[in-house]
Amino acid sequence: KQPSLLIQGAMDTETAYFIEHLEEYECVTIGNWKFHTGFLGAKREPVIISKTFQGMVNAAAATSLALAYFKPWAVINQGIGGGHDKKFHRGDIVLGEKVVPMGSIAYAFSEEGAGIDGKSFSLLPVEIFYRETGKTKKVTEYPCDGKLLKAAEQVKTKYHTGRGVIGSGDEWNNQLDRIALLRERYHTAVEDMESAAAAQLCLSYGVPFLGVRILSNSIVNGEKFDEAVGIDGQKFMLSLIDQMREYM
Ligand code: 5AD
Repeated sequence: KQPSLLIQGAMDTETAYFIEHLEEYECVTIGNWKFHTGFLGAKREPVIISKTFQGMVNAAAATSLALAYFKPWAVINQGIGGGHDKKFHRGDIVLGEKVVPMGSIAYAFSEEGAGIDGKSFSLLPVEIFYRETGKTKKVTEYPCDGKLLKAAEQVKTKYHTGRGVIGSGDEWNNQLDRIALLRERYHTAVEDMESAAAAQLCLSYGVPFLGVRILSNSIVNGEKFDEAVGIDGQKFMLSLIDQMREYM
């Protein structure tokens, strides 16, 4: 059997449109997660659609189960996100050049009563166990697959797309100074709550990974949350699925 592409989204607005369009639909339940298998698009691309639920732990668990059970040839974690870079507006799509685990930080020591300093921190490396070498390594960012990213950049689409760094953690930033600091440290274009978990496990397993985020809100541009853009994100993904083989 041909290996499938694993496509993840946390919410219904990021996954339901895919599931409706699956041919030869089957649903597999593993633990607490459902995986929807079938074929998508004109080229009948074999896929697994995974609704991970929100946040890093849910995304990690769903990714771990899917990697072990389905052995996908690549993983695309996609969905809605919050803009950090003013050049992206609500409805625009950030194609991940890499993912940074922005919650993984070590704060500098300060004395009792010194107050809370949100700026004095360094990156706290994350331990990765590489199956192939049997060794561990500590990293502060996760790569996106060059070929998948290039294919995503070349997709003919009506959506405005651009490459950028995805900041990911169990956090929702609304403080403009904190977002400016994150941009200074990590050059983030957008933030979400799942892609770092999936990207970390893909790095560990040696499976190609891509993060794709459509802006549902941009506090830096004063644009309020609208989760319905998740459907546009899926429509873009269908174009990517139809066209990617031409570019890879
Ligand atoms: N910050 C963090 N996560 C966001 N999401 C959308 N906007 C933001 C934001 N500003 C994504 C997360 C989560 C859901 C609420 O949407 O990934 O799954």
